[in-house]
Amino acid sequence: MSKVFVFTTYGGPEGQQLTDREAPAPRAGEIAIEVRAAGVNPADVKRREGAFGTRGSLPVAMGLEASGIVTAVGEGVEDFAIGDEVLGTPARGLGTFAEHTVLDASQSVIKPEEVSFTDAATIPVAGTTAYDLTHQVEIETGQTLLVLGAGGGVGRMALQIAKVHEFRAIGVASESKRELVEATGATFVLSGDGAADRVRAIAPDGVDLLADLVGGEALRELAPLAKDPSMIISAADDTTAVELGGAGRERSEGVLGKITGVVQYGLVDPHVVETFPLSQAAEALAVVESGHAHGKIVITP
Ligand SMILES: NC(=O)c1ccc[n+]([C@@H]2O[C@H](COP(=O)([O-])OP(=O)(O)OC[C@H]3O[C@@H](n4cnc5c(N)ncnc54)[C@H](OP(=O)(O)O)[C@@H]3O)[C@@H](O)[C@H]2O)c1
Repeated sequence: MSKVFVFTTYGGPEGQQLTDREAPAPRAGEIAIEVRAAGVNPADVKRREGAFGTRGSLPVAMGLEASGIVTAVGEGVEDFAIGDEVLGTPARGLGTFAEHTVLDASQSVIKPEEVSFTDAATIPVAGTTAYDLTHQVEIETGQTLLVLGAGGGVGRMALQIAKVHEFRAIGVASESKRELVEATGATFVLSGDGAADRVRAIAPDGVDLLADLVGGEALRELAPLAKDPSMIISAADDTTAVELGGAGRERSEGVLGKITGVVQYGLVDPHVVETFPLSQAAEALAVVESGHAHGKIVITP
């Protein structure tokens, strides 16, 4: 038997539990892994709350990204072999908060030796999102990137990518994230009431790209700063971004390999601040659900 963390009802954390089941076997195009680390994301909470629909059969295994060691390969898989160290996204219907799981081979890559299992486990969701947000529309060296929600897992990686491209980066976050933001080389701007005026004071001509990780009113307030509304890209609130003339984050072809290379060369550090054993998955989720984690939270089965 193999342990997996699931939710049994859509809604709050009370439906979450650790349970036993047979380790899943890979189907065509999939690879089975022994999980070494699994990143925890706001999307895990949103999924449990039913934000992505409530039609799936229960219980639902939680966790949307992992690193681990390949234990079996499904039919037609040529890029991976038993014993490979990998990172990737779970196969349909499966989760990564588990001792064993199965990944979609097309959404997985070999883990570089230089990248730890814990760092690797944050790349498929937060890493790819940071990469897409900073590449979905083109801006050039010296142009201004404004990141709303800059102190979070995705925001901080987006600021580090901005440094690689020599964008002029501005990060909007709460005071407790000031050092995190400034450590990336970005200019810190305090979030909350008046944030738009504070950004305008340092970027009077506006910004070339607004990468959003918060959405709602906070995004609406900053939106007029975008010189061109089509340069508003949101990973948190597609509806508001589109209404403002921008777009939601689109997953680009090959993004997992690209951002894995960027992490491998030390240009982006996922900044894992806390790891929890699988038996404390609920505690790990609670930290992320608070909305104010100071870096990535990872479960290490
Ligand atoms: N579409 C996708 O594929 C995709 C992928 C990954 C993530 N996302 C979404 O992107 C968002 C961020 O993800 P994450 O992993 O970075 O989350 P996270 O690590 O939990 O960070 C969220 C950040 O939002 C900040 N925040 C909250 N309200 C704010 C406000 N009014 N102004 C400025 N900052 C504010 C918090 O900072 P303070 O503590 O400083 O307030 C926190 O650092 C989530 O909504 C997530 O679901 C989408």
